[in-house]
Amino acid sequence: MNLLFLEEIDSTNKYAKEHIAEIPDGTIVYTDNQTAGRGRLNRKWSYMGEDNIYASLVLKPSDKMEDVYSNLTQLLCLVLCQTFEEYGVKPKIKWPNDIQINGKKISGILAEAVMGENVLKGIVLGFGINLNTSREILSQIDQPATSLNLEIGKTIDKKEFLEKVINKFCLLYNDFIEGGFLLIREDYIRRAGFLNKEVTVKVLNKILCGVAKDITPTGALKLLDENNEEHILLIGDIL
Ligand code: BTN
Repeated sequence: MNLLFLEEIDSTNKYAKEHIAEIPDGTIVYTDNQTAGRGRLNRKWSYMGEDNIYASLVLKPSDKMEDVYSNLTQLLCLVLCQTFEEYGVKPKIKWPNDIQINGKKISGILAEAVMGENVLKGIVLGFGINLNTSREILSQIDQPATSLNLEIGKTIDKKEFLEKVINKFCLLYNDFIEGGFLLIREDYIRRAGFLNKEVTVKVLNKILCGVAKDITPTGALKLLDENNEEHILLIGDIL
């Protein structure tokens, strides 16, 4: 995997999308100073200081979009969980790819596909991780959030954390492209904090309430609503 470090940038995802043609497959674009980070649903991703991770992984698996590519966020999510676990914490996944520790968000992923005239130019998996943040900074975020240093009581080496993520991702990636989500389903489900619980899911502009029953072999969320009707959700956000 290649590393492309930028001293300061508005958003690593935006940079990766704009330079997709020049960035080789398997490159991590990362920065210490992200001035206008974006999250899913056009939310803002706050800058919390240079000791946190602001990175985008550029992948070019083929020039044709395949269903399995939409599960790459779940692969990265699992890899991030496994990395957190090496530090002795117990992360939980909030479908599809938020990571929480003790109910507080510690990491988020923003996946974007870059298309051009019916060809897939590349996939950008942006991830933000709170590695070393103070309680004071976290209290300014609009949702409960935590940081790895606060969870384990010591400063985290950012380079070491990133290397662990890269190594784990590389180990699984080729098999995942061949075998799909099914390959990681059990490991993903083991960390899914929302299963068999009442959830409210926002799907585009619709709100669905019910019990999260399962994650299907293709990574979708199976929800049983208040009228016992089953919904298979490919996209959405648990609120
Ligand atoms: C979310 O939780 O909504 C996803 C957050 C993704 C944030 C990362 S930080 C690096 C990359 N650049 C961005 O602008 N966003 C992603």
